[in-house]
Amino acid sequence: PPEETLAVIKPDSEHKEEILQEIQARGFTISRLKDTVLSREMAEEFYKEHQGKPFFEQLVEYMCRGPCTMLVLTKENAVQDWRAAMGPTDPSEAREKAPESLRARFAKDLLENAVHGSSNLEHAQQKIHFIFGDIDSMSIHDDA
Ligand code: CMP
Repeated sequence: PPEETLAVIKPDSEHKEEILQEIQARGFTISRLKDTVLSREMAEEFYKEHQGKPFFEQLVEYMCRGPCTMLVLTKENAVQDWRAAMGPTDPSEAREKAPESLRARFAKDLLENAVHGSSNLEHAQQKIHFIFGDIDSMSIHDDA
């Protein structure tokens, strides 16, 4: 059965439209989409798994800097396939190992790496709920 994952186009991406096109070209259905400026509290909660890491403060600041595009992507094996589409966290590694990946093409550096995706199915369900809440998951494009 198809799976859902949470994807994020991070703030200040000049490549939002290209990334959205690429998502569809790679066979993902965009089931939900909304642009949101995260509050500091939301960004901290969203990335709570990284609390205490040396880059946490910078990460929270970056994620609050402007609107994030929040997406629910649907497809067989969506969680793993979206991670493969993004490529490694570090764009220099991505350019070496996965030159076609989104981070290889669109990330600025290790922090400002353009896109995010849930690391497993459990996180995906948690983060989709955190970002989109309980509203009918069949409706498309929140802001339409
Ligand atoms: P993401 O996949 O969204 O998960 C955590 C984010 O923290 C990561 O992408 C990067 O934006 C950022 N990040 C991870 N490691 C580092 C690092 N060593 N230095 C700075 N930022 C990092």
